[in-house]
Amino acid sequence: QELELKLEMLEKGGYDHFMLKEIYEQPRSIYDSMRGRIYPLDGKVQLGGLVEYSEKLRNANRIIIVACGTSWHAGLVGEYLIEEFARLPVEVEYASEFRYRNPIINENDIVIAISQSGETADTMAAIQLAKEKGATLLGICNVVGSSIPRLTHGGAYTHAGPEIGVASTKAFTAQVTVLTLMALYIAQIKGTISQSKLISLLTELETIPSLVEETLKTNDQIIQIASELQDSRNCIFLGRGTGFPVALEGALKLKEISYIHAEGYPAAEMKHGPIALIDEEMPVIVIATKNSSYEKVISNIQEVKARKGKVVAIVTEGDVDVKDMADYSIEIPHADEAFLPLLATIPLQLISYHIAVMRGCNVDQPRNLAKSVTVE
Ligand code: G6P
Repeated sequence: QELELKLEMLEKGGYDHFMLKEIYEQPRSIYDSMRGRIYPLDGKVQLGGLVEYSEKLRNANRIIIVACGTSWHAGLVGEYLIEEFARLPVEVEYASEFRYRNPIINENDIVIAISQSGETADTMAAIQLAKEKGATLLGICNVVGSSIPRLTHGGAYTHAGPEIGVASTKAFTAQVTVLTLMALYIAQIKGTISQSKLISLLTELETIPSLVEETLKTNDQIIQIASELQDSRNCIFLGRGTGFPVALEGALKLKEISYIHAEGYPAAEMKHGPIALIDEEMPVIVIATKNSSYEKVISNIQEVKARKGKVVAIVTEGDVDVKDMADYSIEIPHADEAFLPLLATIPLQLISYHIAVMRGCNVDQPRNLAKSVTVE
């Protein structure tokens, strides 16, 4: 048994939990997920597993993304990016709902299944159905040779490496990385993006692993914030644009591993319900980085403060306005809006992790949850 313990410690590479190790692996896993696929100097994205379907992608009517859990959140980020760059309508579906709805699908549809394990029963059933209706299936999976990649026509693997912690961290950012590449690849073949824009985006994308490294340095500050929040019973996460799926994912992480009730909301929807919950007991974690919705998010923060909510803001380095208003702020490096999820997710993973540890929860194996859900 002692040997087993030692072996486990070795596997955790000096970290207390697999989850923390996997959070810290993200500069590497993001890099690995884009390595050999981007050519910033030429302004070119190359995805070997999509080449055969480039004609299909050029002529597609729309893209349907099917997934569950965290992978579904990655899909929502994909929706923003594909619509923005490739100007192709995207729908993001919970696989479990899609499969039982008699959905309208035809040969001009591209269905993308996102799955870390490649074994999720609902996601598999959803693509099986889409296959029967003649759609082209693409996969974004992490486990090589798993069932979903075998069912799909093409796709691109995430190269996150094995993920042991039940709560997904590095697989999520790897999925977002691959979706970013797919969005830019489709934009490239459809001609919906200029060469100069592609060059500048890819040049910046290449720097993201080092910006993630930078973002991980917020850890000590986050431990402090976590100790303030650890006894909360509820928590709201807000974001707009690509910050919205990040808010959903932040709330999911907190629920999964700390058992604190949390909800993610698009910031502007707060006034249609969640605002009623806000009082001095309610922490509100807001993605308030400097991008197109910055001013609007500021007014959402004012609404929370007017009701005495406790605001934790994720802000862009050097920000002063939000910092003045928020109770706590966490600075992350500046990046193009398209890459925001890859950075803003990191502090939220760390907040959940530290709160869960402080509450004495089993971080790597939360109660009632499974790493992969292979039955309905
Ligand atoms: C389970 C896991 C989640 C994961 C979801 C989808 O609920 O606990 O972390 O996001 O399944 O799994 P998949 O392997 O399809 O990404």
